Amino acid sequence: MDGNGRWAKERGLPRREGHRAGAESVREIMEACKELGVGYLTLFAFSSENWSRPAAEVHALMALLERFLREKAKDLDRQDVRLLAIGQLDRLPAKTRALLDSIIARTASHSSMTMVLALSYGAREEIVAAARSLAADAAAGRLLPEAIDAELFSSRLQTTGIPDPDLLIRTSGEMRISNFLLWQISYAEIVIVKKNWPDFREGDLFEAVEEYQRRHRRFGAL
Ligand code: FPP
Repeated sequence: MDGNGRWAKERGLPRREGHRAGAESVREIMEACKELGVGYLTLFAFSSENWSRPAAEVHALMALLERFLREKAKDLDRQDVRLLAIGQLDRLPAKTRALLDSIIARTASHSSMTMVLALSYGAREEIVAAARSLAADAAAGRLLPEAIDAELFSSRLQTTGIPDPDLLIRTSGEMRISNFLLWQISYAEIVIVKKNWPDFREGDLFEAVEEYQRRHRRFGAL
């Protein structure tokens, strides 16, 4: 969800206003995905690197996230959407974490769509943690190194149980992955959209899905 800052700058507004407008896009895209029958929607809402932004911006983002969670809780129930989160969640402020945990628990039985929030998330950290857990099992004699395969490795990632993404959309025209789901996007189709995230709305999602439908996926085969 890139380009909130640029969206605000173009309008002479503070960055937090870009994030506020970005939260509106999150609401709209979530509804649109539900309508389209998307099974899993993962949103990169806050990266491990984002902690180094000015304290006021981090605070504004956490406040926005809390507001979104409070306001959306009823809709998630009504729309049968399950909420999950990936990332170093213990780094979140206690209040934000508690609210997040309560909504994850409250929506655990919903099954029409899963929305995954990547918060304080970094793919390298996730992969390192998986490697460390496998190494610990091997060192303790619980696991033979030759038993480690892609499936076992995947099961130690935070996304275990969540299918790999089919489509990755990045807004604001940047041609980078920026430490997002590095393992899981191995065969994802990538669509780069020039618009900044706050301008990315339902129609833009439909266009990205149409672009995805035109792709011929081969998964490495002919
Ligand atoms: C990247 O734009 C965006 C973020 C760091 C935050 C994304 C957060 C939201 C859209 C709102 C809160 C989240 C939820 C789930 C309600 P940027 O600030 O890096 O933009 P720039 O590259 O133009 O500076």
